[in-house]
Amino acid sequence: MLKHLFRRKPTYELVAESEHSEHGLKKALGPVDVTALGIGAIIGAGIFATIGTAAAGDATRLGAGPGLILSFILTGIACGFAALCYAEFAAMIPISGSAYTYAYATLGELVAWIIGWDLIIEYAVGNVAVAISWGNYFKTLVAGFGIIIPDWLSTDYRTAARIPGLFERAPHIFGVPIVFNILAFGIVALITIVLVLGIRESATINTTMVMLKLIVLGFFVVVGWSYMKGENFHPLLPNGWAGVQSGAAIVFFAYIGFDAVSTVAEETRNPARDLPIGIIGSLLISTVIYILVAAVFIGIIPFDVLRQKLATEQAEPLTMALQYANIQRWGNLFVGIVAFGSVVAHTAVLLVFQLGQPRIFFSMARDGLLPQSFAKVHPRFRTPYVTTILTGVAVGVCAMFTSIDEMVDLTNIGTLFAFILVCIGIWVLRKREPDRPRTFKTPWVPVIPLLGVLACMYLMLGLPWITWIRFALWLIVGMVVYFFYGFRRSRLLR
Ligand code: ALA
Repeated sequence: MLKHLFRRKPTYELVAESEHSEHGLKKALGPVDVTALGIGAIIGAGIFATIGTAAAGDATRLGAGPGLILSFILTGIACGFAALCYAEFAAMIPISGSAYTYAYATLGELVAWIIGWDLIIEYAVGNVAVAISWGNYFKTLVAGFGIIIPDWLSTDYRTAARIPGLFERAPHIFGVPIVFNILAFGIVALITIVLVLGIRESATINTTMVMLKLIVLGFFVVVGWSYMKGENFHPLLPNGWAGVQSGAAIVFFAYIGFDAVSTVAEETRNPARDLPIGIIGSLLISTVIYILVAAVFIGIIPFDVLRQKLATEQAEPLTMALQYANIQRWGNLFVGIVAFGSVVAHTAVLLVFQLGQPRIFFSMARDGLLPQSFAKVHPRFRTPYVTTILTGVAVGVCAMFTSIDEMVDLTNIGTLFAFILVCIGIWVLRKREPDRPRTFKTPWVPVIPLLGVLACMYLMLGLPWITWIRFALWLIVGMVVYFFYGFRRSRLLR
């Protein structure tokens, strides 16, 4: 049994299976598409919704203050180490299962399953958070046009309990107040339909949204620049390095997504060349933008004001900064433009993650660890429609009834864990298969993978203990599922 648990799937077999399977996905993407998919996945709720908390802190953690810029640099470097490792794997094993498949090739089936299970936290749970945040921004945006969406249709039960009078205002069935987030469900449903229709269509829509969000963030930097004040950067680290670390652990959410590029490996025309470009390129572009946006944000709002503000106004930091700047002419229009950009950015993130999760399930099903029906490809659209619809329903329904609290932390811990295993995997495969052709090589192995592991652990340590407990519980449930299902049906075993 032990031998089976750690049996590896040879890389040549993985690649051959994907090339010769009847489950072929459509190869339609080039380097620009994959880089845009990366940026599509990266820039979203993280920069538009979490940087306020990262800078100001909350009841459970210290804020970074102006050190937010350092938090972004630190996290960018940590992600850089992981991205270099992802790039080598993605070019060498261009399979849609991403980190799950890399683990199957290097660390064996059990670890592969653990990563596959863990990636559900990154993709599906992450998207639940993004969908809820999308709903908040959408509501604010349409309110600007005089359309008011009632609270009982745009929030979950737990959050509703904290809004005075909401239960009384909501309609009742048999005396029970009806409260659910139809906005979050609606956007996930819409995106699921687009994804079933085709990868080319999805990529085109994504590229358009990416252009829009880059323009809007550029607009924020240009407009905000003249409202920055030098004194807002002093003291640079009001809560010392501890503040920078906990800020970094939150803004890590903003970086998640460059790795999602690897899930479209089987739909990329020249994955050996284009995936490293997409992974590293999208991370670099986003890092530069984040540092600029963070600097302008911090430069506009003094730390003390920020701490006061966040107690009442929840996380819509960029529009809040523009409001604080009190821009006389066009001020409201500028706020509206940034709110619109935020809705678009969230939508792109949702699109790429809803695209990535089914492809990971698809790979796991092809290996026999999940039911075979999960590996079905639509005869006409050539998309993994069964898993796309399943993911859509699961994320949509969860987003309808859960609160955004803690979802971000859970996503971060799960993703950091996957990054650590990918970094270890690079080192292991260099030892086990040193002569394998590698079109992209992570430099300075084992130094870079080791730094990747240490940096990710450092960020994990910045997360609250309750997140660690939730994460451990999730992994335990995963082990139970594996031993009752995947272990017996694995293709490798048969
Ligand atoms: N990086 C993605 C976002 O910020 C998950 O929304």
